[in-house]
Amino acid sequence: MSSTELPTRTLWPDADARSIHVIDQTALPHAFRVLRISSLQDAVSAIREMRVRGAPLIGVTAAYGLALAIKSGDPLEAAIARLEAARPTAVNLHWALARMRARVESLAPLENRAEAAWIEAGRIAEEDVDQCRRIGEHGLAVLKSLAEKKSGRLEIMTHCNAGALAAIDHGTAIAPITAGLAAGVDLHVWVSETRPRNQGLLTAWELRQRGVPHTVFADNAAGHLLSRGEIDAVIVGADRVAANGDVANKIGTRLKALAALDAGVPFYVAAPRATFDFSRADGKDIPIEERNGDELRTFSGLDADGVVKTLRLLPADAPVFNPAFDITPGKHVTAFITEYGVCRPDALPSFFDANDA
Ligand code: MRU
Repeated sequence: MSSTELPTRTLWPDADARSIHVIDQTALPHAFRVLRISSLQDAVSAIREMRVRGAPLIGVTAAYGLALAIKSGDPLEAAIARLEAARPTAVNLHWALARMRARVESLAPLENRAEAAWIEAGRIAEEDVDQCRRIGEHGLAVLKSLAEKKSGRLEIMTHCNAGALAAIDHGTAIAPITAGLAAGVDLHVWVSETRPRNQGLLTAWELRQRGVPHTVFADNAAGHLLSRGEIDAVIVGADRVAANGDVANKIGTRLKALAALDAGVPFYVAAPRATFDFSRADGKDIPIEERNGDELRTFSGLDADGVVKTLRLLPADAPVFNPAFDITPGKHVTAFITEYGVCRPDALPSFFDANDA
């Protein structure tokens, strides 16, 4: 978020180490609101209600939520269990909590644990900023090589929101795009609205803040757009990647990957190491969150007076199906863009071996 009136990050800790502040993403893009999180319950609610969302940001929020729980004397394992249950698919949540547990479980007394937990959560946040920045650098190389092969501006399609809002800063899929803009790459972004939660509108909001040329389209237009040969690359983020490269990402990603495959358009997935879960052999093992059907039955927006209103699209008891994620087969992914470089799906998981050691 580059505007000088807005915070440059999505989450920032208070100096007294008693709370954090986050951007309330349920108010965007119509209003900018900041939410204070000062307890385990606040953190669980913010994650569950998607006031914070996006795999990396969920992970950092959970880490701080656990630090707040430890400070209050909540039992460690019970607090971890509550945070883990808040959202099941993004593995960054589980990764961050495992790292926090490893850091504090052998420490006593409580004050030592609390201080160590707060510092560790801060480290996870800072590392996320650095990882996303490096994803941007490696993605920039990909964009530059695509740009060399064509005359005219680069047309990039994305899905959902994998921008700064989904992380602490920079984002994952959007990091190469903002790096490209800064490096003078002539580009334009196609943003799908991403029903039912419309995270694409968050992407449009971010791109507008940063002055990135973009166009929003209805999800159902993706196949048509890709088939016309006018898109040079699709770049999306991920919530969890299995050992064979299968990708859990926002519902609708799979259809974009299939349409890109059909049209011969490269399909990139940008994600940090924390999003790769090699304990899952393939995508069938990844839990897919199903959310409340009211997300489909209703719709929110501004009325003529600029007031946010929620309207009903379907009767309250209309049967609906609302999976939040889908699985894109790894074989349809051209490459992963990570903080360590670009990697083909068949090179997983060994690509990370040297870096994990
Ligand atoms: O349900 P959300 O909004 O938390 O899901 C986020 C996504 O699926 C994003 O598309 C993303 O790629 C993962 S976060 C960088």
